[in-house]
Amino acid sequence: SEGVKACVEAFKNGKPCMVFDSAFREGETDLLFPGIGTKPEWIRRLRKECGGLLFLAIGDEVGEMFGMPYLQDLFKEMEGSHAVLKALDTTDLQYDSRSAFTVSLNHRKTFTGITDKDRALTTARFAELTKELLDEKADQEACIKRLGEEFRTPGHIPVCRESPGGLKNRRGHTELAVSIARLAGLAPVTIGAEMLAPEGDLALPVEEARAYAKKHGIPMVEGYELLEAHGFAKEAS
Ligand code: 5RP
Ligand code: CA
Ligand code: ZN
Ligand code: ZN
Repeated sequence: SEGVKACVEAFKNGKPCMVFDSAFREGETDLLFPGIGTKPEWIRRLRKECGGLLFLAIGDEVGEMFGMPYLQDLFKEMEGSHAVLKALDTTDLQYDSRSAFTVSLNHRKTFTGITDKDRALTTARFAELTKELLDEKADQEACIKRLGEEFRTPGHIPVCRESPGGLKNRRGHTELAVSIARLAGLAPVTIGAEMLAPEGDLALPVEEARAYAKKHGIPMVEGYELLEAHGFAKEAS
């Protein structure tokens, strides 16, 4: 669609786009920027104008390259030695079958990790390193070593890993967000946040999200348009 083309063009130019997933899922609109070249101003905008959680969406191949586990699986493995992890299990997720969260990150050169400058550094460097290593086709051991030289966990950038198979298996903002970076020919790393209503007790209604997009000249699409762009039928959304 024209909307998808505009979002891809925006990412190519280091500009944001907006994605409403679906009325049948979270019913949320996320404001997204490409991970590559993230600037403190972008983090500031996500922080001040969205109100939701800032998160980094990464392609499944990136998660694989670094061997980054889904927290849901990791905690399951550790249930035996930590009763609380069993008590807190995520089998009752309301809007999807699987949580996308993997380990959170801070760049080692950050101080607290939370300032706009710190979160921009963590995000931009993670995206750059990903691109370098994907281009080099380095093996997993080498990739993990390079990651550890620059980053630590826990950190202030929560990371969501795309489901294997991407949009075929899961239609979350994680999959939608990395799909735009891919269409733009960028490393599949996207930073974003959910847009909440000003009082924060509900998602920003989609019509208000559209008005914000229009006012600021930000292209906005719905999940089904990205599904179509990838050849999935509309009714499948
Ligand atoms: C992390 C989230 C957001 O909703 C984000 O949109 C990614 O999650 P999902 O892929 O489940 O939509 O929970 O802030
Ligand atoms: Ca979510
Ligand atoms: Zn979402
Ligand atoms: Zn959400």
